[in-house]
Formats: sequence, C-alpha cells, structure tokens
Amino acid sequence: MNKTAVYPGSFDPVTNGHLDIIKRASKKFDKVYVAILTNSAKKPRFSLEERIDWLKRATKELINVEIVSFSGLLVDFAKGIGADIIIKGLRAVSDFEYEFQMALTNRQLQPDIETMFLMTNGRYSYLSSSIVKEIANYGGKLQGLVPDFMIEEIYEKIKKNQ
Ligand code: PNS
Repeated sequence: MNKTAVYPGSFDPVTNGHLDIIKRASKKFDKVYVAILTNSAKKPRFSLEERIDWLKRATKELINVEIVSFSGLLVDFAKGIGADIIIKGLRAVSDFEYEFQMALTNRQLQPDIETMFLMTNGRYSYLSSSIVKEIANYGGKLQGLVPDFMIEEIYEKIKKNQ
C-alpha cells in the first residue's frame, strides 16, 4: 500500500532537528509532504519563500519529499493531498502535552488520519527554530544547528530585516 505522510510546521527556519525527522520519515513512507503553515498566529521571522527555499535545498536528495505550504486546518489539507498520516517530532516531555492535544483534536476532526510521533535524535533534543533565531540575533555560532549553506543567509536576512 502506498503510504503518504505530511510533516507540518512553521520551519522558521528549518533546523537540523527537523531535517533528521524528515530524513527518517522519508525512509518509512512512500511520500512525505513537508507542509509549511502560512496563516500561523505566530508571526514568522523569515518569509514563506525563504523557508520554502531552505527546505527545498536541504532536502533535494530526498526524492520522495516535497515541500508545500498550506493554510487552514491541517487535516483538511492532508485529506486533500491524500495523506493519512501526520508526522510529528517529539523532543522532550515538555512537547508532549501540546502534541497530545493536537493529535486528539486532529483525530476528532478526521478519524481516518493517524498522527505518528518520531522521537528526536538525542543530539537535537534541545534544538528549536526559536533557539536558532535567539543565537542568530546575538551573532552566535549556528554550526551544527542548521545546514551550513543556511548560516550566512540567516545572518544576511536578519541584518536586512533589522
Ligand atoms: O512548527 P509549529 O509552529 O509548532 O507547527 C504547528 C502546526 C503548523 C503543526 C499547527 O499549528 C497546525 O497544524 N496548524 C494548522 C491548524 C490546525 O489544523 N490546528 C489543529 C487543530 S486545533
């Protein structure tokens, strides 16, 4: 059976933690859509185009991974693209409560769509897009947190938007 999954998020910006989840999901599913939410209540630091571009370049070797954007309810989007699995990464117990609530809400909305959690790679358990932005704001080292090709671009974009 063809298994299609969707991995949603803000990816503001994508981190090595996200990429680890995407790579692992790409080995387990026939097709993985990485879906960037466009109408988030959180105001993104980087434009949708920048986030798409970084994700596309960082996943270019993963042939069954496609970068898309969506607005509205995730389950409606998933249904529309034929995905019946939502992938979420879990880093720590602190993620659990929120993710558990979202998974149950999504099941209530669309019982056919299953949420599956992938545990983070231990070395990224502290890492988040917010941490990356915080370090970048103060000119700290981003090596190992995001792909190398993104580092200068993050600094340039932060400088330009200040
Ligand atoms: O990376 P994030 O910002 O934590 O991702 C959150 C995201 C995009 C997964 C979540 O906000 C989402 O699915 N939003 C779409 C609206 C929706 O379907 N909400 C769930 C039911 S309340």
